[in-house]
Amino acid sequence: MNILKYGYFDDENKEYVITRPDTPLPWINYLGCESYFGIISNTAGGYSFYKDARLRRLTRYRYNNVPTDFGGRYLYIRDNKKKEFWSPTWQPTRSKLEQYKCRHGLGYTIISSFYKKIEAKIRYIVPLGDNLEIWQLSIKNHRKNSVDLSIFSCIEFCLWNAIDDSANFQRNFNTGEIEIEDGVIYHKTEYRERRNHFAFFACSESLEGFDTQRENFLGSYRGWENPIVVESGQSSNSNAFGWSPIGSHHINLILNPNESKQIILILGYHENNVDNKFDPIGTQKINKKTVKEVNPINVEKAFASLNNYWNNLLNIFHVNTPDIHTNRMVNIWNPYQNMITFKLSRSASFFESGISRGIGFRDSNQDLLGFMHMVPTEAKKQILDLAATQLITGGAYHQYQPLTKKGNQDIGSEFNDDPLWLVLSVSAYLKETGDLSILDELVQFNNEPGTEQPLFNHLQCSLQYIHDRLGPHDLPLIGRADWNDCLNLNCFSDNPDQSFQTTKNKEGKVAESVFIAGLFIAALKEFIKILKQKNSLDETKLYLEWAENMNSAILKYGWDGEWFVRAYDNFGNKIGSHECEEGQIFIEPQGYCIMAGVGIEEGFAEKALNSVKSKLATPHGIMLCQPPYSQYYIHLGEISSYPPGYKENGSIFCHTNPWIMIAEAMVGHGDQAHDYYTRINPSARETISEVHRCEPYIYAQMIAGKDAPTFGEAKNSWLTGTATWNLIAVTNWILGIRPTYNGLSISPVIPKNWSGFKATRIFRGVKYHISVERIGTGNRSMLYINEKQIEGNIIPFPPSGINEMFIDVKIT
Ligand code: GLC
Ligand code: GLC
Repeated sequence: MNILKYGYFDDENKEYVITRPDTPLPWINYLGCESYFGIISNTAGGYSFYKDARLRRLTRYRYNNVPTDFGGRYLYIRDNKKKEFWSPTWQPTRSKLEQYKCRHGLGYTIISSFYKKIEAKIRYIVPLGDNLEIWQLSIKNHRKNSVDLSIFSCIEFCLWNAIDDSANFQRNFNTGEIEIEDGVIYHKTEYRERRNHFAFFACSESLEGFDTQRENFLGSYRGWENPIVVESGQSSNSNAFGWSPIGSHHINLILNPNESKQIILILGYHENNVDNKFDPIGTQKINKKTVKEVNPINVEKAFASLNNYWNNLLNIFHVNTPDIHTNRMVNIWNPYQNMITFKLSRSASFFESGISRGIGFRDSNQDLLGFMHMVPTEAKKQILDLAATQLITGGAYHQYQPLTKKGNQDIGSEFNDDPLWLVLSVSAYLKETGDLSILDELVQFNNEPGTEQPLFNHLQCSLQYIHDRLGPHDLPLIGRADWNDCLNLNCFSDNPDQSFQTTKNKEGKVAESVFIAGLFIAALKEFIKILKQKNSLDETKLYLEWAENMNSAILKYGWDGEWFVRAYDNFGNKIGSHECEEGQIFIEPQGYCIMAGVGIEEGFAEKALNSVKSKLATPHGIMLCQPPYSQYYIHLGEISSYPPGYKENGSIFCHTNPWIMIAEAMVGHGDQAHDYYTRINPSARETISEVHRCEPYIYAQMIAGKDAPTFGEAKNSWLTGTATWNLIAVTNWILGIRPTYNGLSISPVIPKNWSGFKATRIFRGVKYHISVERIGTGNRSMLYINEKQIEGNIIPFPPSGINEMFIDVKIT
């Protein structure tokens, strides 16, 4: 039975509408797309930060708390006569709302509700160009009589450094500082010492009262669901010295029947000049940010420009296929998720606490593939930042910190796949933009002045790094791990207090990765194309030779008979082979070797894909490996630490599924490719929300595999490489529209029962209107411009001045 219990897609408005607050997990959205960000759940839970979720956290959130999803952008409405109160966003009071709706849109969230004939609607947005968030409350009285209401706002400030905030109580119970000026609450903890930034929380109305000390607001031993101040209807006008600063405004409101009113709250971040951050005595100029006048018209304008911003980004690629799930993911949610993932890497989500990880070298280089077409200039900046954390050896820091942009020493380098992803992101940038000048940009190594070399040399270093580190089978040495962070073949750890990745007690001269071998060939092929663009034809010879040698090594030592081997361990034994008891087959080398073109001619690709289908594919997606490891193996590391069916140990680790879709498309299996696409497509899984549990509009990192008791349950939604790769798989390979150096290439490999599709793609300033018609059941496509067939599948760049092209494609 098709019961959509929690909500529905509103494609027209590009929103997902949640119709009951008690979703299986908090279903979240993001506010902000520049420097000020927040996560917001369907019941207004979440937190805000400026640039860095760890070091500049504005508000508190309590991860893994009960009830779930606590800490947020809360309001209380109190009927002063009946002495009754509720939260219009359900949390924190969880009162029985008569109506509830949450609209998660692109960069905003609107939560509305009805309670005893009082209608309330709150729109939360972060306007472009400002470091603040707006809560726009519209409230209407549907009763026959007038009503006397109190509105209380409430946020809890974080003392900036989110780690200290949750650990260093002996200090931070003393440091909290607040100032209140003209009804604006300024959070200024540590401003008197080394900080030059503060937060402010302002309200459009004149206040009945306020509170800034948490205990005064809640009352001792009370929780957020029944603060004493709200219960009594009386703010205490408390001023926080130490302990836990909060911000709460109290507004009184009389509403006649049918009367409505708007109240606007602003939470913002402000920085002053370090050398000039204090006011001369007796003035209030510098250290108070004059809160900008925000009235409903300004909010409307901010909202319109936010919509504009997203519409422009989403217009770059638009499709109309026979499949609604494809359309809505490609046109709306997938590019949206890619942009969010680009901005936040893996830092802040419901599953990522904002304090643990920096920007991943491998992660961001892959993320780039999926947002490049929308914001190429920002892509360029990020490529250069990433490249600057490469080491002179050609290796790369595994992560860097967003505020300093410096490599993270704790985690270090030697994840041997890392440097190769840079080659892929740069080549994607070049194809998208044609801007070869990026190759000449001087970029430091390890962020050290004086080490600058052209970006082009960085790519060479990346390839050289792999080439110089081959093992006994001439396959690349794996280092601490390759793409699979949990296959730790040189870190024998028998102590739970050690890290799986950084404990390194084997020499690392034996364990090899067939996955890196495939990736190496893919990167070499891209690099050779780059050399051709630079007219350095002589140089291609060397790299062709490397690619051929690696190809032979894979065919010789990396082929298991029915599929590609995954790796060789520290003792030279195979991983991912029929010879193994557990972990006989892994998805990663099947995907990447075929994507690199290995074994296609020999028929190995078809065989490997058949094995994937019979051994790894499930109705919920393709599992990472089978059978999963039933116990911990010290020579395999973290992968075997997870219970079977979870995470890298045999879950459907969604990031890897699109590699198989691409491989299937490359060998011409459109039905199979799209079938796999649909299995993990969140929109297509909406009808099984009770099983899937994560948001139906967003990809999750993993779905529990068949060996898990919760088969089909998703986790780790939002910040995952899954987003980028799915968009690439469906747009570039299934729909077959991909940028090349010579023009836009179109060669769809779509399901047999599709009559065709339409698409528009803006590429290098030209808008291509593409109309595809299936006239046969194969995959051969013929391209027509003005009814004239062109040769091949690449539309040559039109002469300058032409910014629209109409292309007809017939598939026979
Ligand atoms: C996580 C990491 C990514 C890694 C993957 C598989 O998603 O962010 O870098 O490739 O796990 O271990
Ligand atoms: C854990 C996770 C893996 C992730 C890694 C990042 O090992 O299982 O998915 O890539 O942490 O550090």
